[in-house]
Formats: sequence, C-alpha cells, structure tokens
Amino acid sequence: MVLGLSGGVACYKSADLCRQLIKAGATVQVVMTEAAEQFITPVTMQALSGRTVYGSQWDAREPNNMPHINLSREADAILIAPCSADFIARLVQGRADELLSLLCLARPVQRVPLLVAPAMNREMWAHPATQRNLAQVAQDGAVVLGVGNGDQACGETGDGRMLEPAELLEEVIAFFAPKVLASRKVLVTAGPTFEAIDPVRGITNLSSGKMGFAIARAAREAGADVTLVAGPVHLPTPRGVRRVDVQSAQDMLVAVEQRAQDASVFIATAAVADWRPAAPSAQKIKKDGSGQTPTLGFVENADILARVAQSARAVDGSLFCVGFAAESHDLLAHATAKRARKGVPLLVGNIGPATFGQDDNALLLVDEKGHRELPRASKRVLAQQLIQDIAARLPPARA
Ligand code: CTP
Repeated sequence: MVLGLSGGVACYKSADLCRQLIKAGATVQVVMTEAAEQFITPVTMQALSGRTVYGSQWDAREPNNMPHINLSREADAILIAPCSADFIARLVQGRADELLSLLCLARPVQRVPLLVAPAMNREMWAHPATQRNLAQVAQDGAVVLGVGNGDQACGETGDGRMLEPAELLEEVIAFFAPKVLASRKVLVTAGPTFEAIDPVRGITNLSSGKMGFAIARAAREAGADVTLVAGPVHLPTPRGVRRVDVQSAQDMLVAVEQRAQDASVFIATAAVADWRPAAPSAQKIKKDGSGQTPTLGFVENADILARVAQSARAVDGSLFCVGFAAESHDLLAHATAKRARKGVPLLVGNIGPATFGQDDNALLLVDEKGHRELPRASKRVLAQQLIQDIAARLPPARA
C-alpha cells in the first residue's frame, strides 16, 4: 500500500505505523510531501519500509518519469497519515502540483481506495472549512478515519489528534475484511462477572474476556453494528465497538435483555457466575477475633443465554443465538447436551483450563447436524472464522 505523509507533528507516529503495517504483512511504499519532510526524514521512512521514499513528481528514477501513475496503479490502497488540513483541502480541489496529491487524483477510484487519517489542532479540526472539506472528500469516495481526543502538540486539548498507529492498523484491517455481517446488529457478552460478598470482596472467575473481545472485533470488521457487554476485564475496547461495562450477572442480564430487542445475532461468551451471595453485606465483613468464619448463602443467577434463546425473536429466527461452553473433559458430549439444554442453534465448545487467559484456543462448533472443529489458532483467527461461520447461517438480510 502507499503510505502518504503530509505535513504535521503526527508524522512521528507514521514511523511506527509503517512498522506495524509491515509486521501485519503489507508492502509499504512511502510517499512524502515537502512539508512532511520538515517533520521526519525520508531516511527514517526508507529504513523502516525498506523501499526508497518518493517525494517529487519529477523523480527521474522512474523509467517513464510518471511516479504518480506507477505508484497509484501498484497500490491496493492509499493511506494518508497524517492528513493535514491543507492536504484535505488539496484533495477537495483535485490539486496536482505535488506528487502525493497528484497520485491521489490519478488513482483508479474504483480499484484503489483512499483512506485519510486527519491530524491537526482542535480549532483547525472544528473549523467549518475543514468539516466541509472532509464531507466533500468522503463524498468523492475517500474513507475518512476518525481522530483522537487529548493533549495536542500545541499545548491545547481536544479533538484532532491523529489516531494511534495500532488504531490505524485496526482500521485498515477492518476496511479490507469481507463485509459478511453488513447491516446486522451483533450483541456479545464477554469476560467474567463479579458477585459481591461485601463492598470489598466478591466471587469471580478466571475468564479473561479475550475470546469475546476478539469476536466483537471480528464482527465489527465484518460490517456489523456491535455492542459488547463486558464484565470486569482489563482489555481495550475494539475500535468501532460500543462497550457496556457491567459487574454482576444481574447487571449483565439487564444490559443484554435491553439490547437483544433489535439484535440479529447474540453471542454469549461471558463466563457468567452461576450463583451469587444471597445477602451481600452493605459493610465490610470484619473478623471478630473469635476464629468463626462467615457462612455464605447463595442464590442461582438467571441463565442469560437461555432466557434470550427463549425470547420470541430468537424462537422465530430473527435473533440467532450462539452459546459457549467451557468444559474440562468430554467436550463433544457436554457441548451437545448444553446446546440442547440452552436451546440455541449453535454452541461453541472449548476446553476451559486450556484457554482461560491464553491468546490461542481450539473450538468445537456443535449444531443440530453435528460438529466441526476449528483447530488451534490465535483467538483473533478463530474469532474471524467463527464470524464467517455464523454469517453463513443467518437468513438473508432485509434490504
Ligand atoms: N451463560 C449465561 N448466563 C448464565 C450462565 C451461562 O448466559 N447465568 C451462558 C454463557 O455465556 C455460555 C453458556 O451459557 O454461552 C454456557 O455457560 P456454562 O456456565 O458453561 O454452562 P452451564 O449452563 O452453567 O453448565 P455447567 O455449569 O454444567 O457447565
């Protein structure tokens, strides 16, 4: 892909972005404007990309002397990061007086997507001229990525920072993913729940939430509108995913039931506590020195998945429910029985102790016809495979 740098302090992030793109498997051809070279040298970008950097439309290295044609024809996409306010205005005008704008203009619009990652001061970002220009750039077919919020190099705080390299990489990957869940709403639960004993103690489990977060990310990449209801975990929210944080199984149930009303897929990966303390103490339970231990009574939590699977929309097929099962042995037998018990069309089994907290896993997909294994791979890859599988099971989307 062509990574284009226009002038802005955020150029320093583009060095890391370049590395991350290459690590993810991309071939990166860097093109820099004269202004970008004020912020970072072509030497750095050449060393990181392993390719000569282009900066001039008069570059005599190209045998036909047309770098704008050659570079834009070879690329699968052009990513401008950072894209300055000035460069956005240039795109709007279709300027062709320097190489980067020229090659954006010369690109075959249908075949070579243009992604822009704006970066500028918050006042420049908020200015009607910039917003008008961005709307025009989007209308002309470019994909305008968002901006970050926070401290800016100028000392001010607000919107307009360039997204971080890892976020941009996520956006680029999402852009290229097949949109098998376009126009679908997907609801995912993830992580453990926390059942309070008193204000400082509680009962939880070792679920890390990684599988559920990977599924939410893959669903969003596949074009879905994703809501992730997460128990207490320390994981970053996948880009473009709406996250609702909850603590207890009861909180999770409320959050899920509300949002299941208009979802088309519900994927329950959360390791929901089966029981909660019957009478959590409002105050910390103290040792009284007598050596006596407190006695805890429990009540059973509602089965969120089973409840949703019994709802009218699930029964009539408008809501496709997917359950997970973490077992320690006899996976197929337990997963098959659990699928029937929960009343879901698809149940995904895995061996709990082998997956909790790990980055990879193996899955067993059980449906009414039989089972299929997704062999050991990273949770990221398994999530993508699972999303493909689920998408193929859905009734056609309504237009
Ligand atoms: N689940 C749920 N609400 C609960 C318990 C479980 O939504 N209160 C969902 C999980 O998210 C998972 C599936 O049900 O998708 C399987 O949960 P699991 O706890 O493994 O099954 P149980 O029914 O508790 O069976 P067992 O304890 O016998 O393994």
